[in-house]
Amino acid sequence: MLVSAKDMLVKAKEGHYAVGQFNINNLEWTKSVLLTAQELNSPVILGVSEGAGKYMTGFSTVAAMVREMDKNLGITVPVALHLDHGTYDGCYKCIQAGFTSIMFDGSHYNIDENVAKTSELVNVSHQLGLSIEAEVGSIGGEEDGVVGMGECADPDECKRIADLGVDMLAAGIGNIHGKYPEGWPGLRFDVLDAIQQKTGVMPLVLHGGTGIPADMIKKAITLGVSKINVNTECQLSFADATRKYVEAGKDLEGKGFDPRKLLAPGAEAIKATVKEKMELFGSVGKA
Ligand code: 13P
Repeated sequence: MLVSAKDMLVKAKEGHYAVGQFNINNLEWTKSVLLTAQELNSPVILGVSEGAGKYMTGFSTVAAMVREMDKNLGITVPVALHLDHGTYDGCYKCIQAGFTSIMFDGSHYNIDENVAKTSELVNVSHQLGLSIEAEVGSIGGEEDGVVGMGECADPDECKRIADLGVDMLAAGIGNIHGKYPEGWPGLRFDVLDAIQQKTGVMPLVLHGGTGIPADMIKKAITLGVSKINVNTECQLSFADATRKYVEAGKDLEGKGFDPRKLLAPGAEAIKATVKEKMELFGSVGKA
């Protein structure tokens, strides 16, 4: 059931758990995430970066695929189709394409411009029933060409953005996209706590979910994180399972080269990763 992310995140914040955002890249990814959410009776957010949208030939292709797959698989748990790290133009394209949620990443603008653009997009998306995520500070590392230096967010700036009525707020707290480097000092819980004090009931978003130790994830949830984004970890699981299949020569046995067989171990590996994360985030049974 395609819905905005608003209600599922309000419930998550109240219930002290987090909803996973799993980025999708193609049909196999989408199917694996949807089936796992249904099996575990968990709400879920499908994240689509601008790069992944382009790869899948456009946001309208993605929206049509997700809508039809959701219907044809008989998915009854709440599913939000969400733009990840959207540009101003990208947000309008996704609104038009039929997404149910957008993220406007205005973190590279100065705060006044971020506030102005976010405010406009809050009004447009709410009029149409979509939820909207905004960003303050920046997430370190690189994701699909979006490079962040990893500056911690200023809690006062977070409050300015939260006061615009956004449904969820991504704030840099030392988190990084991709694998965490050796010697990473960990999440800045002091900054997260200060942000939570200023933003109150606002669901906070933790990007860079890959590789964050379980105890840090749990602590972040106690400090107001209600949405956690995972991308790289599913890519690594998929690649690892596919490599094992090919290295074992399975693609050369019988019709093992058939894409439905060749991609099956990777698709199963994505399901296992999504399950592990949903259990860790506490969203199982919360649909
Ligand atoms: P990872 O690739 O580190 O899991 O981050 C995902 C993310 O934050 C998507 O916005």
